[in-house]
Amino acid sequence: MAPEQTTEETPTRIPTHIAMIMDGNGRWAAARNLPRLAGHQAGTENLRRVITACVEFGIQYLTIYAFSTENWGRPDDEVQGLMHIVADVIERELDELHRQGVQLRHIGRLEHLDEDLRNKVLHAVELTRDNHRLVLNVAFNYGGRDEIVCAVRQLMKAGYQADEVNEQTISQYLFTADSPDPDLIIRTSGEMRISNFLIWQAAYSEWYFTPTYWPDFDKEELRKALLAFGSRDRRFGRLSNCAQESHAG
Ligand code: FPP
Repeated sequence: MAPEQTTEETPTRIPTHIAMIMDGNGRWAAARNLPRLAGHQAGTENLRRVITACVEFGIQYLTIYAFSTENWGRPDDEVQGLMHIVADVIERELDELHRQGVQLRHIGRLEHLDEDLRNKVLHAVELTRDNHRLVLNVAFNYGGRDEIVCAVRQLMKAGYQADEVNEQTISQYLFTADSPDPDLIIRTSGEMRISNFLIWQAAYSEWYFTPTYWPDFDKEELRKALLAFGSRDRRFGRLSNCAQESHAG
């Protein structure tokens, strides 16, 4: 059987941390003659289902790309619509997410957001800070390059000397300092690029691409992604265990 062909099996190798680029909302809507925001609304409803599926599969960290530093360049009504959707979701879903044991974290910059939205995000983070079933990092007003610039600035402000800076110190100053690097990154909708998402943390992540648009990426699709992940040989730049043994022997 081809390595990534699937059966009804249950995934056994579960990644600790999955990151998702939830792409294809606009095309999902266009295919139904709906406005783009209807696609984002459907994508948001799907996100709720995917969070529950992640909890059921025992995933500990989920990072989602909700709004990038480049998304400000979209038409104003789409940007405002997305801000509205996020504020609305926090209002409607926070209690249930809290009950499910989800810890919400924000990665990115809060300072340019509308004050009311910023306060909602801060409240959600504070309310859920002691939950441990699933850590949900929401990348909102996030850019990977911007994150590295912020980290370097913080390091310099903290007085680090050049020879004190290493990979670990940089990681500790990223927005994701308290999360392990993602084991698996999923991008929906058939696009195959990184789009400024977790560019430091993705150094050894496995990638999974699917043509499915985000609003249709359901638990079954997630199961297939997990099976594909389980079949990968993660070498982190070294040799696989078998090859290593025969090399040594
Ligand atoms: C990419 O699809 C999707 C986005 C830019 C926004 C994703 C946001 C959500 C699903 C909203 C929910 C988030 C939270 C935190 C509640 P696209 O618009 O680029 O689709 P296209 O490539 O088909 O045009």
